[in-house]
Amino acid sequence: MAKDGNNGAAEFLPDRLDLDALRAAAAGCQGCGLYRNATRTVFGEGPGQARFMLVGEEPGDQEDRQGHPFVGPAGRVLDRGLVEAGIERDDVYLTNAVKHFSFTLRGKRRIHQKPTAAEITACRPWLDAEMAVVRPEVIVVLGATAARALLGREFRVTHHRGEPVPLGEALAVATVHPSSVLRAPDRDEAYAGFLADLKAAAQVA
Ligand code: URA
Ligand code: SF4
Repeated sequence: MAKDGNNGAAEFLPDRLDLDALRAAAAGCQGCGLYRNATRTVFGEGPGQARFMLVGEEPGDQEDRQGHPFVGPAGRVLDRGLVEAGIERDDVYLTNAVKHFSFTLRGKRRIHQKPTAAEITACRPWLDAEMAVVRPEVIVVLGATAARALLGREFRVTHHRGEPVPLGEALAVATVHPSSVLRAPDRDEAYAGFLADLKAAAQVA
């Protein structure tokens, strides 16, 4: 069978499960169609022993160009929140539910497109492998896409944000996506809510 298309990431997983092997293997993933137009796989980053795993949606334009998660505008909101919540960078493994940037072209601009349910499912083996290797105590779920991937379709971030919920051997705490803070009519209020959820997550570990 051609290793191209929509069979999911599972067939690209390496035999050895450690972060270096996973990252190297994910660089060649063709488990869904998103690899075709994106520049590169943006894999998770952080120490293998991190107590916190933060899961976003997918890399954005900057992340796709630079090859690292959360290095664009949403990443700056996240970084500020982590500092103010007292969560140390050394304690954080940062990743996304989907590892390739999904976009549509508007002229020369690449406009972020939400990953589909099929793409989220296709990419799930990478996230599962990252969770199995890092074994975080707390998983911070950033926004609806990550919540859908990890907590199921019925989970509503708006109803349950900031509440620890069991997820495997970890506890998950969901919050809004940091890019929604940037889009909010009242940014200060949105940021305050985001920070309160990160502080709740910090208390769990
Ligand atoms: N938004 C995400 O969900 N992830 C990133 O890495 C960047 C922006
Ligand atoms: Fe593979 Fe995920 Fe990229 Fe799809 S988005 S090609 S499943 S790494």
